Amino acid sequence: MGPPENYVRSAARISPQIPHSNRRMGNRILNVLMQCRDKFTNRHVAPARGVVTFMGKRSMPETSAEAGPHLPVLLDEVLAAFAPLDGKRIVDGTFGAGGYSRALLEAGAIVIAIDRDPSVQPFADSLMAEFEGRFIFVPGTFSALDTLAAAHGPIDGVVLDIGVSSMQLDQAERGFSFMREGPLDMRMSPSGESAADLVNGLETEQLANLLYAFGEERKSRRIAQFITSARETAPIQSTLELARIIEKAIGRKPGDAHPATRSFQALRIAVNAEFEQLVAALFAAERLLAEGGQLVVVSFHSLEDRIVKRFFDPDKGGPAQSRHLPQVVSEARRWVDVAKARKAGEAELGRNPRARSAILRAATRSDAPARPVSLEGLSVPQVRQA
Ligand SMILES: C[S@@+](CC[C@H](N)C(=O)[O-])C[C@H]1O[C@@H](n2cnc3c(N)ncnc32)[C@H](O)[C@@H]1O
Repeated sequence: MGPPENYVRSAARISPQIPHSNRRMGNRILNVLMQCRDKFTNRHVAPARGVVTFMGKRSMPETSAEAGPHLPVLLDEVLAAFAPLDGKRIVDGTFGAGGYSRALLEAGAIVIAIDRDPSVQPFADSLMAEFEGRFIFVPGTFSALDTLAAAHGPIDGVVLDIGVSSMQLDQAERGFSFMREGPLDMRMSPSGESAADLVNGLETEQLANLLYAFGEERKSRRIAQFITSARETAPIQSTLELARIIEKAIGRKPGDAHPATRSFQALRIAVNAEFEQLVAALFAAERLLAEGGQLVVVSFHSLEDRIVKRFFDPDKGGPAQSRHLPQVVSEARRWVDVAKARKAGEAELGRNPRARSAILRAATRSDAPARPVSLEGLSVPQVRQA
């Protein structure tokens, strides 16, 4: 791959064919690429495959080999939830490629961004240079967002865009995708157990319970049996190897999602302790925000969305009350103005099919004191012990 200047030239060649809004986004990405340097050699690095392609084509669904860099989802809705933004201090707990952070900064906010993935650093460096004094990047997990943001003044809002970024999915060596050959890793940060550790280390029943609880995989037992019998020959090391074993176990119907979709989701959730992180982050935001502060959460599957929905409104889906029992007096509400769930419209889906499953929920902090952290009533999926 050549230096970033070559990408600028390619972009200039194709730019007349690109709609204006995509061109603007393309230029932003090129800005970042101009500053992308390998963290060890300090040399320019090649962009993720598909960066330039993306600017001339629609981005593709999550599982496509043609996928491009991360396009922020429900961005207009996120900005609208915090408006007006001028002078507000917002914590972007899932920085990624900085799509939300940039838009918040452009609307006049001060942004404190957090991400657990060290590979986002070049994107953060770029925003730090461009918005000097208004953009701070703190590496870490959003479960501790209140402590990470504590030194940066009173915070007016927190946004979380839960899940995996397109860059993480698209880099085969990260091991997130069942479409790309790579080591079975799936860690968002470099420490902790990898997916290979779980796949090769868990007992069959434990593995089946995990795939069922975190992936809602109904054929979890059969998949777990195929995995444990395959690993008797040699440990399962790669993404495609695991995907093939799952396909052998449960088959593949034309038109259906890839048979490994749910199992990969379950493993990723387990490897990154995603539910624990989400619950901790919601309570951290509750402690951090004063009355009037806003929390906006974008999630990507029903298991996450249910946690967010119940956190904002403990009465939603809580245990039914008997008509014969005395009416229980509701606790003070920590969150008010709980907005109806928002989803991407046709126009956004046309630009970015990855927004298909995104759901945005937003609410405003009341003056009631923050609750102690508890899973009760949140329907957090639990892996049944074998
Ligand atoms: C969907 S992407 C966010 C994309 C971002 N909104 C943008 O517009 O570019 C999610 C990001 O959150 C990060 N992330 C996921 N879980 C995290 C956690 N528990 N703590 C901190 N960062 C996390 C991931 O590493 C990833 O970069």
